[in-house]
Amino acid sequence: MNEELKKEIEKRRTFAIISHPDAGKTTLTEKLLLFGGAIHVAGAVKSNKIKKTATSDWMEIEKQRGISVATSVMGFDYDGYKINILDTPGHQDFAEDTFRTLTAVDSVIIVVDVAKGVETQTRRLMEVCRMRNTPVIIFVNKLDREGRDPFDILDELENELKIKVVPLTWPINIGAKFKGVYNLYEHGLDLFTPSKQTISERVEIDDVNNPLVDELVGEADAKKLREDIELIDGVYPEFDVNEYLEGKVAPVFFGSALNTFGVKELLNCFVKIAPSPKPIEAEERRVDPQEESFSGFVFKIHANMDPNHRSCIAFVKICSGKFERNVGYKHVRSDKVMKFAAPTAFMAQKKSIVDEAYPGDIVGIPDTGNFKIGDTLTSGESIHFKGLPSFSPEMFKYIENADPMKAKQLDKGIKQLMDEGVAQLFTNQFNGRKIIGTVGQLQFEVIQYRLLHEYGAQCRWEPLSMYKACWIESDDKEALEAFKKRKHQFMATDKEGRDVFMADSNYVLQMAQNDFPKIRFHFTSEF
Ligand code: G4P
Repeated sequence: MNEELKKEIEKRRTFAIISHPDAGKTTLTEKLLLFGGAIHVAGAVKSNKIKKTATSDWMEIEKQRGISVATSVMGFDYDGYKINILDTPGHQDFAEDTFRTLTAVDSVIIVVDVAKGVETQTRRLMEVCRMRNTPVIIFVNKLDREGRDPFDILDELENELKIKVVPLTWPINIGAKFKGVYNLYEHGLDLFTPSKQTISERVEIDDVNNPLVDELVGEADAKKLREDIELIDGVYPEFDVNEYLEGKVAPVFFGSALNTFGVKELLNCFVKIAPSPKPIEAEERRVDPQEESFSGFVFKIHANMDPNHRSCIAFVKICSGKFERNVGYKHVRSDKVMKFAAPTAFMAQKKSIVDEAYPGDIVGIPDTGNFKIGDTLTSGESIHFKGLPSFSPEMFKYIENADPMKAKQLDKGIKQLMDEGVAQLFTNQFNGRKIIGTVGQLQFEVIQYRLLHEYGAQCRWEPLSMYKACWIESDDKEALEAFKKRKHQFMATDKEGRDVFMADSNYVLQMAQNDFPKIRFHFTSEF
């Protein structure tokens, strides 16, 4: 056993913060970076969110994408741990990017606004976490504002996110009367003083019945707190870290990111309980992070939008062994050995060239079009990591060539953009036409713009009314053929050549499911 490798792995915590826009993800990220000493004043983290108002403002999007390269991964050291926060785009049109980022993390912190509760984006992202049994911690934010009853919030979290919850801190009042939280996990009272820069003091309290509580928060609030805690003890089971690690239970913290309140408690608990990199299933076998030989996969490709510097950064999550600069690694898909002279690591908001990196770390590799999402790099073995699913898109359009002289450029552009994961390409088997599927309108604009500016190709969109793309399979070959024949106008292939049924309405899909019981319909490409 390589002790150095083991030590490096055990101190790594690689995670993402997810939320519905405006719940406070950026603010929380910033406060975590403050504690890690990675930044020194609040307000230093530029928001990586593409504001709703900017949906069709291209220059704005480009500017924000520029920022998001820098904030894609933020690493910092805290209390002997190496923490890597993977940022996810806030705009829902880029949800697919977020889904993929979730494949590269070992755990997740979900931020929920106490007034708004669970919102759509959070619900969808949680589905991805559930699929992968990703351990989840929930931070209920903005307790300094009027909001919902904390018991109602817990019920909603359980029902909407479909996970058991256990509160580890408990708020004393809310909004203008918010006094702080009682820490059920460490037994102490954290008193609230609104401030963006200072951290509240902890008063150690062994038991909530201690008269000191009345002194500190007033008799009425102390009484309510005791009643609440009695109820919590009766209703919620004791927190079991193993259940958390299996993705079965989510501990909940209450606080106010803007006021740096409850954040340190969250971070302290997080580093203690959150998992370090775990073994990953590859198609061939299970890969343990402690194996000496290096392996990693590309989970994100970030294109430089400046046409004068057409290069990309491929983000590689290291899964096992030690990654070293200038060492030849096998690019499994092309079966070629590649060396990387300038891999970058991300500390705070800076990127710098690194000589080595460990499982859990993310390295950025400058790329000129060699990489695809999901590609594996290894010390020599041919392994393929699973778990980078494509989800059924929600919007579909036919893509047509608008400049007959540039057909080749268009094909090349489409191929590379799809490899980068900007959208999904399907080819209709009936008429051979190309269909682009996205999760939002914005991506059609992104594609058109990039095809023109990076490839000199012009495209035109033709509307297509489509409900869902479903990957289909069956153990019964004849049944599969019969289905394909019957639905031949609606059959397409994805870019890997797999069969996809393009259902034009929910009704049609349900009928198909009823009429063809031997066919399995999947809404993600991984099954
Ligand atoms: P996001 O990344 O999840 O989209 O949210 P972000 O952190 O940008 O926070 C959204 C808004 O909520 C911001 O206000 C932020 O200041 C505010 N906020 C975050 N945490 C708290 C909190 O604990 N209490 C209160 N009261 N507000 C909080 P904004 O006006 O939209 O932006 P800004 O102009 O203040 O940056």
